[in-house]
Amino acid sequence: MKIAIVYDSKSGTTEKMAQAVAEGVREAGAEPVLKRATEATPADLEAADGIILGSPGQFGLPSFPLKEFLDQTGQLWMEGKLVGKAGGVFVTNYTLHGGKEQTMLGLITFMLHHGMVVVGLPASAPGNAIRGSYYGASASQATGGPTEEDLAAARALGRRVAEVAGALARARASA
Ligand SMILES: Cc1cc2nc3c(=O)[nH]c(=O)nc-3n(C[C@H](O)[C@H](O)[C@H](O)COP(=O)(O)O)c2cc1C
Repeated sequence: MKIAIVYDSKSGTTEKMAQAVAEGVREAGAEPVLKRATEATPADLEAADGIILGSPGQFGLPSFPLKEFLDQTGQLWMEGKLVGKAGGVFVTNYTLHGGKEQTMLGLITFMLHHGMVVVGLPASAPGNAIRGSYYGASASQATGGPTEEDLAAARALGRRVAEVAGALARARASA
């Protein structure tokens, strides 16, 4: 079971979250394939059983390098190559709010257009009864993020996407 984690990061905040997401994927017994957006290819997405996208939030939108990569997936869309794959998202920005959920929704919208099965974080995920970060994992630089709690949420996201990808693969195999 391979989970592609494709992220953009200039000053390292989103990269720390990406590494925690990868730990969570490993905890679930799957193999994380960690790539910067500038290094990833559409073939990396096609080869994965699940896909997790991470971006700095920039004015409520994903950053340009990640968007530029996502815009290379037209052929995958035409051939339905990502249909039924599990997906999840994570975002960092400076302020406590500052457009995090809007940025996550941008990445989730991409996944829905590709027919993916989007996995968020339930209130039962570590610390999430108070955080209420249901759309994915996130961190704020202004509060010293990623904090231990942010990293725990990122690990939970990685585990959850890997677990759902495994369940979907088993369902396909027995259909
Ligand atoms: C062009 C630009 C726009 C940004 N817009 C926002 C914003 O709207 N709200 C916010 O809180 N942070 C904003 N930021 C800050 C980044 O989201 C933040 O520094 C992010 O965590 C950087 O991630 P990185 O360390 O992985 O590069 C912006 C940064 C840039 C460069």
